[in-house]
Amino acid sequence: MKERAMFATKMGVIAVTAGSAVGLGNIWKFPYETGVHGGGAFLLIYVACVLLVGVPVMLAEFIIGRSTHKNARSAMQILAPKRKGFTALSYMGISASIMILSFYSVVAGWIVEYLFQSLIGSMSGHTVAEYSDMFIAFTSSPWRSLLWTFLFLLMNYLILRKGIQKGIERISNFMMPILFILLIIFCINSLLLPNAMEGVKFLFNPDFSKVTPKMVVGAMGQAFFSLSLGLTGLLTYASYFSDKTPLVKSATIIAILDTFVAIMAGIIIFPAVFSFGLEPAAGPKLVFEILPNIFQQMPGGYFWSAAFFILLFFASITSTISMSEISITFFTEEYKMTRNKATAINTIIAIVFGSLCALSFNVLKDVKFLDLTIFDMFEYVSSNILLPLGGLGFALFVGWYIDKRIIHEQLTNFGERKITLLRPIIICIRYIAPVCIVLIFLYGLGYLDFIL
Ligand code: PHE
Repeated sequence: MKERAMFATKMGVIAVTAGSAVGLGNIWKFPYETGVHGGGAFLLIYVACVLLVGVPVMLAEFIIGRSTHKNARSAMQILAPKRKGFTALSYMGISASIMILSFYSVVAGWIVEYLFQSLIGSMSGHTVAEYSDMFIAFTSSPWRSLLWTFLFLLMNYLILRKGIQKGIERISNFMMPILFILLIIFCINSLLLPNAMEGVKFLFNPDFSKVTPKMVVGAMGQAFFSLSLGLTGLLTYASYFSDKTPLVKSATIIAILDTFVAIMAGIIIFPAVFSFGLEPAAGPKLVFEILPNIFQQMPGGYFWSAAFFILLFFASITSTISMSEISITFFTEEYKMTRNKATAINTIIAIVFGSLCALSFNVLKDVKFLDLTIFDMFEYVSSNILLPLGGLGFALFVGWYIDKRIIHEQLTNFGERKITLLRPIIICIRYIAPVCIVLIFLYGLGYLDFIL
């Protein structure tokens, strides 16, 4: 049998896992979801979901992957051979990963277009209204949307096919800290804008009258999406962890880092929204309308916008690599396909569905199910339904069906690490995370309306 690869260093583990987690989910989706759902209360519920549901589910995925060093389906078969039903989670994960890859590539395509526009210098010198028109003109052109989506998927394909993740890993090890520094600079810049405090209040002052079932479901979905959970992505990555990797510590660092980046994105976007007199509930276009205005009023705007979109491009591609790796590992290990073939299949499916998502902003904009366009539908169903369902499955599987000894061994690295909160962590995996997910689903379906 071929030796399975392993991440060598602790830093490598954090870098790849954080590379998967930090992406458009933090910088594009988090601000727009917060805007749509009315600000502070969404942030608070989101953080609660990260702590009570996200971290326990991440540990559950880590335990399954690291204890077996196998892909999701084989791993679950090894851990609980009599519970074959759970292997369905790996198929659900693959479906979710393909849905996400499809709409994510459309947004990443917008990033590539904005990067291109920044480089050729056409990003500066416009009015607030012109930047909004620019986004609309771009997304309503079918060929432009398709072109950039394809281009992004092609780059994703080439990186995956060449198996040069190592190279990309090295680049992102170096890009991610720069992204971090840039975000801090942008935060300071936004906080100095006129009227900035309005935006800060919007983000941090919870207004509980805005809490709705839709918002709570959205906050949970966002926690899953942003932490790359519930679709076997982190399970697959954990199968490459060494036995020395500290699982609890890694999960904590990743959750903190990811949440921190999302909050920074909020601090950049909302003060600017209020300062430029724009609408916080603008939806997916929010960040694309706001950012050019921010660059525009900074000295050296050309440099800032090019640098920001390049970094965002890297943040996106480290995430799409991780979602593509789910089906590629599965196809190669379970169906003995070559890596090239598995990568090609993954890309072709993403091109087909990605095109439908790109076209849902123009020629297919009237094709709607339950009032959602194809793009919205893919985003909603994957983040808010499939990922939490997957997470529920993993928490129940680890909490109730695998040997308790394995949980202890994995969390303490065979007794080598003392985990002070071991019992509370296990209680979160067994009870709290599953109960929260079920309650939020019931609330979302309107069964718990009497609570709020
Ligand atoms: N977490 C990634 C982001 O925030 C998106 C992602 C979802 C990546 C699911 C992999 C799997 O951008």
